[in-house]
Amino acid sequence: MLTPIHRWIWRSAERRVQKLLRFGETETDGGRDILRAAEVTSDPLLRRLYMEHAIDEFRHGVLFRRRAASLLSESQSSSGPSFQVDWLAPGGHGLDDLQVDGESDDSMLAFLHLSEKAAASRFTVYRDVMQHDPPTRAIFEEILHDETFHMNYTFTQLARVAPQRHGRHLWRARLSRLWKSYLRLATGLAGILGSMMLTLQYFVLLPPFAWFAKRAERREHAGWIPVSAERNQSLDRQY
Ligand SMILES: [Fe+2]
Ligand SMILES: [Fe+2]
Repeated sequence: MLTPIHRWIWRSAERRVQKLLRFGETETDGGRDILRAAEVTSDPLLRRLYMEHAIDEFRHGVLFRRRAASLLSESQSSSGPSFQVDWLAPGGHGLDDLQVDGESDDSMLAFLHLSEKAAASRFTVYRDVMQHDPPTRAIFEEILHDETFHMNYTFTQLARVAPQRHGRHLWRARLSRLWKSYLRLATGLAGILGSMMLTLQYFVLLPPFAWFAKRAERREHAGWIPVSAERNQSLDRQY
């Protein structure tokens, strides 16, 4: 449904650079969190898989940054830097919600599975709208391959460590993601409503005050005014 919007977002080379840089940051941050997960887990197989996963995410970060750098050098030679950041097409994982310390293996795997699934579906859309830029499309294609592997191994491992309760863990992680999305949306909406209210107050409440101030100013006498006798006694205290 949002494909035309994504096509429009990715058409601009300047916007593409900004988004790729941001994606690179997200992937590297995600890799760092997964590396932390490898440190805290007591399961040797998970530790090995998390290490490989973290290396993949770091590599994705490098791929995105390199592509952004080469696009940047191309666009600098043709049009000049006039960039716009667009928030409509988010980065892959949503791994920024991840709190590694204190998570159990099963809840961690459930969270990772859903994040990787979201990444895979977003990168599929981005790859499909990137026909006009084959090198960037190839990067999305390559990363998509890894994200699909991450999505699958996290599910398999979740079924291994929690054979009876993996469905429940997935639902809990889904609800947690939904709640965090709602909070993000509500915060954004509150920001917009706050700006609207302040703008409205500025234009509705301030003009009467300005009018009263101007009227009061007109009633004031110009120049020096003699002080009344009772206020004009000699000073005998500080105030
Ligand atoms: Fe990734
Ligand atoms: Fe991934």
